[in-house]
Amino acid sequence: MDTTVFEKYESEVRSYCRKFPTVFKQAKGSYFYDENGEKYLDFFCGAGAVNYGHNNPEIKEKVIDYLMNDGVIHALDMYTVAKREFIECFEKKVLEPRGMEYKIMFPGPTGTNAVEAVLKLARKVKKRNNIWALMGAFHGMTLGALALTTDKESRDGAGIRFTDVTHIPAPYMIDGFDTISYMQMLLDDDHSGVEKPAALVIETVQAEGGIQVFSNEYLQAVSKFCKDNDILLIIDDIQVGCARTGTFMSFERAGIQPDMFVMSKSIGGMGFPLSIALFKPELDIWLPGEHNGTFRGNQIAFVAAKAALDYMLANNVEKEVLRKAQIVENFMKNEIMPLSDKIEYRGIGLIWGIDFGKLEADFCSKMQKKCFENKLIIESAGRKNSVIKLMPTLVISDEDLLKGLNIIKNAIKDSL
Ligand SMILES: Cc1ncc(COP(=O)(O)O)c(C=O)c1O
Repeated sequence: MDTTVFEKYESEVRSYCRKFPTVFKQAKGSYFYDENGEKYLDFFCGAGAVNYGHNNPEIKEKVIDYLMNDGVIHALDMYTVAKREFIECFEKKVLEPRGMEYKIMFPGPTGTNAVEAVLKLARKVKKRNNIWALMGAFHGMTLGALALTTDKESRDGAGIRFTDVTHIPAPYMIDGFDTISYMQMLLDDDHSGVEKPAALVIETVQAEGGIQVFSNEYLQAVSKFCKDNDILLIIDDIQVGCARTGTFMSFERAGIQPDMFVMSKSIGGMGFPLSIALFKPELDIWLPGEHNGTFRGNQIAFVAAKAALDYMLANNVEKEVLRKAQIVENFMKNEIMPLSDKIEYRGIGLIWGIDFGKLEADFCSKMQKKCFENKLIIESAGRKNSVIKLMPTLVISDEDLLKGLNIIKNAIKDSL
């Protein structure tokens, strides 16, 4: 495999290619193919960007038709048919049936762009500088979002000191510690030294944080806390939205509606870049053009995004995720847990983590390497990268799901 060009000319900043050192050429469904024709099962799924499978034929067909008909490719934020059809579809098929009333905004196409947009809007609405986020959070790599992200390596890369963010311990961090009372105390104590925030930003499942799934009760308590204290609740659904947890939006299971939420990754259908920020209509106090950008609302992504929503609904993807979650959970209980009493697992829907934090420091990277040798692409996450993150496509067959799980089991066995 010739990787000379990348190693010679591409920046040292490259990362995933170091863990999966081959040159990929094609991808279809749940598989990648490298230029030598080797087949790799994908349990990484572009960190959630290809939930409906690589080159999903139904989505791709719509994109090809659009291209062949000279559909508009770039239009800044001008009105286009592609944008109208996506907004109408999102409104009628996602928001309305759930009784959700939100305005939609198209920031730049990546997740971190959407996070920046809602942070800016929240600060503008509440006229407060501070934002609260949880320890273990990942919200992106641009400076505003990175101020919320907690992993040290990413923060160290910024080269500046971050301000106007307070980090709150996540509920799993200290046994028996009530983070809601702690936050209330920060607000009520005139000696807490912590400023009231414009917003609290959370993920419902900390994905990069090591697949930490927050309970419905915790999410409901957070929502109530924010309402009671005039703090905006922002949910970052960039990684675990788009049906990953079994409902299109991951917070549906808790029956809550945040003031604002952001989605990206699979919202663009089959890997096309698109992000959306949604907020309650009364919060839409933007001035025209106040948050601008050349690549807002990618037109091809609009076409793919509408096709993806139609695909998801027609194929009962949400229900299928819940069914497949049972397969994973049974495998974890019956096949993975007996391997060692130093292993833990967590997860929901089709995002699961196996935590090797109690084993030697390089255990996770060792077993990840073995998975790749056995043609499984899988990423790690969490504190000290000690959690292997299972994130298959949502359309994976039961057979391939079990195949991947068995590769993981054997890699653990071999590494113990
Ligand atoms: C929860 C969450 N928020 C924000 C981001 C940033 O998205 P992007 O990498 O597209 O900027 C990510 C990326 O993994 C994420 O998982």
